[in-house]
This record gives sequence, structure tokens and C-alpha cells, in this order.
Amino acid sequence: MAQIWDPQAYEKDGAFVPALASGVLEWLDARPGERILDLGCGDGKLTQKIAATGASVTGVDSSPEMVEAARARDIAAEVGDAEALPFADGCFDAVFSNAALHWVRDQDAMMEQVHRVLRPGGRFVAEMGGHGNIAAIRVAFSAVLERNGFGDREGDANYYPTPEEFTRRLELHGFTMARMALIPRPTRLEKGGMTGWLRTFRRGALESLPEDARARIVEDTAGLLAPVLRDSEGNWTADYVRLRFEAKKG
Ligand code: BEZ
Repeated sequence: MAQIWDPQAYEKDGAFVPALASGVLEWLDARPGERILDLGCGDGKLTQKIAATGASVTGVDSSPEMVEAARARDIAAEVGDAEALPFADGCFDAVFSNAALHWVRDQDAMMEQVHRVLRPGGRFVAEMGGHGNIAAIRVAFSAVLERNGFGDREGDANYYPTPEEFTRRLELHGFTMARMALIPRPTRLEKGGMTGWLRTFRRGALESLPEDARARIVEDTAGLLAPVLRDSEGNWTADYVRLRFEAKKG
């Protein structure tokens, strides 16, 4: 199920994504003059933070709408897939990515491409969903879809590997792991709560359903999750788990 992105909804329901990226930005440790690729740059909010260090940053994203939003922030951004990066061999000192790699369908092709565009000794620094990410949300959404006769559209929506699996995979593509951490990060959702999250981050799956079923699926999923992810004041917390790593092109 291909995801569909709406920059305005993302800014409202996904504001926490760039806001919670300080840890992976510290690992990136961008320096003035470095050539950095932001893979899955989205609307470019985080790309701007990297550019503020004096690094020369380029964004790439598969969503033309997101690339347009990034360009509106004065980011040099290209439309392109992680599996076929539109850049020359060895042209970056670092490839950075936040909250995007778990959407990539062909992880091996992505790793090969990142390796190709990095200079020898360059670094791949990223954070993505890790093993156990949004486990409750996934189970609830799948159950509600199944119960309503739509089949499981969640099972292969994203890829959330363990540190061991992802390390092995990167090593097969010529990287050496410098550091890696699996970080549980319960994340307070914005005012839109769980229904806003589902409408923004499960838009691809929802739009594949008959129009008159979508609101019910969203409401029923939120209803099933309320006892575990909503507090007594009505605040929602999503059960995020991050996999953060720095790998070197050997
Ligand atoms: C994540 O960042 O882990 C994520 C965001 C939206 C949907 C699925 C996962």
C-alpha cells in the first residue's frame, strides 16, 4: 500500500517528527562545508536545521508534494526514490535520514544506493522505526480492518528491523557499524490525537478503502487503542521505538 503525503496534514499531525530529532542530529554532527544528503527530507523542516550548521545540504524525497514544500523553505531538493538516487557516485560526505527508511520497499537497493553516493569513508547516520515500533497501533489497525472484511493492510506497510538484522544487512552492503541503539520513545501526539495520526500516517491504506468506511475504521481503531494509549486527560501517546545508527562506508 503506497503511502500518500499531504504537507499540511504532516505539519499539523507530524510536528513531533522534526522536533524530536535532536538525538540523531547530534550523531550526524554536521560541519560547515560538508556535503550532506537528507534522504526522505519530507517538507524540509529538519533539512533547514542541518543547513544552519553551514553544511551544504540536498534533500531527496519520493513525494513531489513534499519536495515542493521543502523547496518553499529554500532547500535544494529533488524528487527521487531511495532505491534509485538521482546523484553521482561519491558526491556526499554523509547521508542522513530521519523517520523515512522504514517506508523504503527495497532495503537492499537503498543501502546499495547510499553506499554508491557516499565518498570513501563517508557516513550514513539515520533514525527509523525499530523492532516493536507502534506495536499497539499496528495490531489495532489490522484487527479493525480484518473485522470489517478489508484484510490486513498493515502487515507489510513498514519495515522495523532489530539492531542485529539491520547491522548484518548494512555490512553485506559494505558498511561498518560505528554505533547503533534501539530506543523506546513514547511520543505525545498533537491535538489531532490518534485519529489525526491515523489519517496522516495511514492515508495510503485508508484511501484504498471505500469512502464511506474510512471514518468508521479510524474511529474504531482509536476506540480499541484508547485504554492503552490515551490518558485520563485525553492525551494520546504513540508507542514509537527508534533505531538510530551511524555506519561508515568502509
Ligand atoms: C515512524 O516514524 O516510526 C512511523 C511514522 C508513521 C507511520 C509509521 C511509522
